[in-house]
Amino acid sequence: KFKGILFDLDGVLVHTDKLHYRAWKKIADECGILFNEEINNLLRGVSRMESLEIILRNYHGPALSQKEKEALAEEKNNYYKEELKSMTPDDVTVEVRETLAALKAAGIKIAIGSSSKNTKFILKRVGLDDVFDAVSDGTNITKSKPDPEVFLKAAEYIALAPEDCLVVEDAVAGIEAAKRGGMKAAGIGDAAFCEKTDYPITTFADLKDIAL
Ligand code: G6P
Ligand code: MG
Repeated sequence: KFKGILFDLDGVLVHTDKLHYRAWKKIADECGILFNEEINNLLRGVSRMESLEIILRNYHGPALSQKEKEALAEEKNNYYKEELKSMTPDDVTVEVRETLAALKAAGIKIAIGSSSKNTKFILKRVGLDDVFDAVSDGTNITKSKPDPEVFLKAAEYIALAPEDCLVVEDAVAGIEAAKRGGMKAAGIGDAAFCEKTDYPITTFADLKDIAL
């Protein structure tokens, strides 16, 4: 049914949420900004600089220049990358690996569609760097989800029309991006309860029932 599947990375293939949270929390604490898990949820699928803007909604100090904001985002990324070094192939479940292998074996093209500029680094750390037919990530887009750009590029990289692709997402912003791009969307976690989700799934292997 689908010729291609486009996977979000964070929250779908690997669970970096906690690492993002810890890194942003350090920045927020340093600046005296309220930051909690609930606010962290709003950052899913959203680019680094846009995430910072969301966090700064709770900042009431003197106005920050663009340069100061960029410095904060860079500091966050340095903390985050330090945390990423602890990731290993054990951070990808057997279920995820086997499902990806089954989809590929059926001739389905698989690609990554992630807003993260750390995508390639993460894929390498967890040993998924040779698994995907293409990677579209934060380094090749100008607009992050809910804009469809990252998924449209992913489809283009595997030479498929958007309507032949299924997107797999854990973020509401990602489901929105898929629908705006003309793709079908499978939602896992919070995204399973999103109104626009075509296929709510409870576990990654459910993708086999949808696509095979
Ligand atoms: C993913 C995550 C977001 C993160 C974004 C940018 O979409 O879900 O929480 O803000 O990537 O990540 P980066 O690694 O480029 O800072
Ligand atoms: Mg995600």
